[in-house]
Amino acid sequence: MNRHVSSGMPNDLQNYWMPFTANRQFKQDPRMIVSADGMYYKSSDGRDILDGTAGLWCVNAGHNRPLITQAVQEQVAQLDYAPSFQFGHPKAFELANRVADMFPDGMDHVFFTNSGSESVDSALKIALHYHRMRGDAARTRLIGRERGYHGTGFGGISVGGIVKNRMHFGSMLTGVDHLPHTHDLERNAFTKGCPEHGAEKADALIDIATLHDPSTIAAVIVEPMAGSTGVLMPPKGYLKRLRELCDQYGILLIFDEVITGFGRLGAATAAEYFGVTPDIITTAKGLTNGIIPAGAVIVANKIYESAMENADAPIELFHGYTYSGHPIAAAAGLATLETYKQENLFERVADLAPYWEEAVHSLNGTKHVIDLRNLGLVGAIELASRDGAPGARGMDVMVKAWEKGIMVRVTGDILALSPPFIIEKAEIDRIFETLAEILPTVD
Ligand SMILES: Cc1ncc(COP(=O)(O)O)c(C=O)c1O
Repeated sequence: MNRHVSSGMPNDLQNYWMPFTANRQFKQDPRMIVSADGMYYKSSDGRDILDGTAGLWCVNAGHNRPLITQAVQEQVAQLDYAPSFQFGHPKAFELANRVADMFPDGMDHVFFTNSGSESVDSALKIALHYHRMRGDAARTRLIGRERGYHGTGFGGISVGGIVKNRMHFGSMLTGVDHLPHTHDLERNAFTKGCPEHGAEKADALIDIATLHDPSTIAAVIVEPMAGSTGVLMPPKGYLKRLRELCDQYGILLIFDEVITGFGRLGAATAAEYFGVTPDIITTAKGLTNGIIPAGAVIVANKIYESAMENADAPIELFHGYTYSGHPIAAAAGLATLETYKQENLFERVADLAPYWEEAVHSLNGTKHVIDLRNLGLVGAIELASRDGAPGARGMDVMVKAWEKGIMVRVTGDILALSPPFIIEKAEIDRIFETLAEILPTVD
């Protein structure tokens, strides 16, 4: 199935400091991937591995898709690079138009980045810039949420709420506060779709606004569905309540849709899926099907227009990246969006979602499982932690799944699944049958 690519192992694994990886453990027993096609990776020992995670939530259309591969190859030969400051190239504008068409009405302006972390830091800066340019310069506070993941830049870890991502890196941004997370196993365990309980947790914004005064708060940033912390669905009504409160206080609402953007829930955005429109949306991953690093920040028209009207210099926003709207990323993005459209992949997610839901919940009663969650083509299996060794059991399951030819992602003791949208029902069955087989065999 795959074109044969070197299956040899490198001589030495020591020089590469791998990100978010147990380097010492990995280098003892590496999981090396050498090629990919459709739903499958090929490991260095020649096995096909079913991609249960779309890489890192990014390869939404599956691997080695012809339209995208060809667009990238052609673009390299035609225009490999053009400066992004004070010069343009057509495909960046075309991609911005395509993205704006897919995103909620009234959000027509797109700022390109190279990753989710850059999208988040850009969005936070744009929010501060917006208030300042309108003469509301006291609005400098940024509000995130416990357990939030917004990438690894200083802005993202400051508003983020995952302790290990924060504790080693000093005091980070000042003037940041956090909403409580919405995870509530006692009331919501084994819910299919969004949980019934917890909308009132949005009201914590009232306390935060009372403490600091709303006039000091620039923006609230949340993942509409929290992914990297272990998949937490928003309680019913929660996002709508946040929107109402932000409107009431004049605070910008940012949805971090780096995972949910581009179809993961069965609609182009979580904003569309939940019927709640924020002021800014951050994206990356699915924008280019993970093929070329790229991200985008999509802003409400009032934000772009205000920047144009209130600019204090010819350059309206002193922010950007050498590779913003990179020609190859733009070509990959255009071909990716075309692939989603031609193959109706977001509708396919919506069609598969009920089958997926049943498959996820088929693990109810399986050893170690204390919760199952699902939405769109996202699933989470929360395991009881081993005494004194949080994360160890989850890691064991992930490694065993790899050995049995399934890629799953693990965060602590939560297994997260998010396959490419081209997955077939038989492959869904295989993922959950394999997990049902593995779980009783781990300590
Ligand atoms: C919601 C969210 N924001 C930001 C990021 C960071 O993206 P990147 O790793 O591309 O910087 C991620 C990555 O998983 C994410 O899930």
